[in-house]
Amino acid sequence: MEPVTTPERLLQILRWRYATKRFDKDRRIPAPVWEALEQALVLAPSSFGLQPWKFLVVDDPALRQELRRQSWNQSQVTDADRYVVFTALRTTTEHDVERFLQRTTAVRGTPPGQLAGYGKVIVDFLQKGWAAKDLFGWNARQAYLALGQFMTAAALLGVDTCPMEGIDANGYDRALGLHGSRYATLCACAVGYRAGDDKYAAAPKVRYPADEVIERR
Ligand SMILES: Cc1cc2nc3c(=O)[nH]c(=O)nc-3n(C[C@H](O)[C@H](O)[C@H](O)COP(=O)(O)O)c2cc1C
Repeated sequence: MEPVTTPERLLQILRWRYATKRFDKDRRIPAPVWEALEQALVLAPSSFGLQPWKFLVVDDPALRQELRRQSWNQSQVTDADRYVVFTALRTTTEHDVERFLQRTTAVRGTPPGQLAGYGKVIVDFLQKGWAAKDLFGWNARQAYLALGQFMTAAALLGVDTCPMEGIDANGYDRALGLHGSRYATLCACAVGYRAGDDKYAAAPKVRYPADEVIERR
């Protein structure tokens, strides 16, 4: 595939992205742009491909207000055009593996018998692998990859984001009806366009030098 951008332009885009504090309340994301961003979530990679997540797109204004109350009153929750709550499976079971294998069969036409061995490898890993003691933590790591992909995809389309961990995940679960469900809130992402007066947009990025964070062996 032809590169869609140049190294210089890529860095320009990554430097343009910042955790937006003030969103333009009136600017809407065009439908095709939003649809592509939803697909960036759907297409995110995950370990074994299990996709142990659900992304809740919250449009309801009253629910947004309630989530803002559960987010240290951060204005991004209500002012951004879109708001996505990232949740992960509290645990992963054999049924989830079975569901994934069925999906693989449906999409790729692989005979179910051919996938049985792979399914056993996954179930063994879930039960005895290094992640077995904390499957929620493992699932959460997958969901954060989706967050990263989503934010980068948004930046490439000129859309601003603010990842949000300054939230009461338990309060979110209550507001979103997730208590007693298989999913639990991890974090959220506000999505829209920066307000003209957000002073953080022009603030220099605070990053350690590359030779401090990248080691060569
Ligand atoms: C997982 C995660 C959670 C974050 N939570 C918040 C938040 O609740 N509110 C906020 O204003 N910024 C939040 N941030 C933004 C960070 O403070 C910001 O990414 C960091 O300071 C680097 O700045 P930059 O993204 O503008 O380059 C969060 C970032 C990440 C990755």
